Amino acid sequence: MRRKLAAGNWKMNGTTEALQELSALQATHSDPNVDILICPPATLIAAAAQTCQGGPVMIGGQDSHEKSDGAHTGDISAAMLRDAGAKAVILGHSERRAGHHETSEDVRAKARTAQAAGLMTVICLGESLGQREATNTLDIIGAQLSLSVPDSSTGENLVVAYEPIWAIGSGMTPTADQIGEVHDFIRTRLESRFGPGVGRSVRLLYGGSVKPDNAAEIFSISNVDGALVGGASLTNADFSPIIEALEKA
Ligand code: PGA
Repeated sequence: MRRKLAAGNWKMNGTTEALQELSALQATHSDPNVDILICPPATLIAAAAQTCQGGPVMIGGQDSHEKSDGAHTGDISAAMLRDAGAKAVILGHSERRAGHHETSEDVRAKARTAQAAGLMTVICLGESLGQREATNTLDIIGAQLSLSVPDSSTGENLVVAYEPIWAIGSGMTPTADQIGEVHDFIRTRLESRFGPGVGRSVRLLYGGSVKPDNAAEIFSISNVDGALVGGASLTNADFSPIIEALEKA
């Protein structure tokens, strides 16, 4: 059985004041029957890990470098994330693929290093609207999946997030059939590459405009094991109902 996962991506949002939201989240979900991950900006990771110590909320990073150390001004290594208290890292988010020219090969190299450092990697895949309209979504996702996911992946250290680029921050979401088609496809591909044991144990998240009012429907779709949530993860008021919907799914 795959344990469900509610993951929040705070992106470039939050200063020390935002830690109050984490305390509130911990207080609301002292014993959840799903996993909860919050990925705050790097400046807050150590304080967030401290705030959540001993509780159910895991803290993660939003990116890590493919090299373990060296002359890489402004970058953060996987070992540094671990040292700061992170248990996971988001890799290959479309905002990094677009804004920092990250290729799937880059994502795979980063993921290999992060997994070796003991982090759970949340690897993001997604098609643009143009690609969806050209109806080659599964080709795009298949290529991103095989190139971005390293051979070192297991059911414990790999989570795959399907995030259609056009659904992120837009208020638009794919239909349940469209989400189900992509998630079933990813599952089949993982099973054929890693074997049924590992393939079936990797958790698949949907991301892109997940909100309290659409979460239950999204969580009822086959092979959706949780969500990667941006805007609605910033406050306990918005994220908690999403966690509750996942607990009931
Ligand atoms: P959103 O972002 O929930 O604000 O659409 C999702 C994401 O980018 O992970």
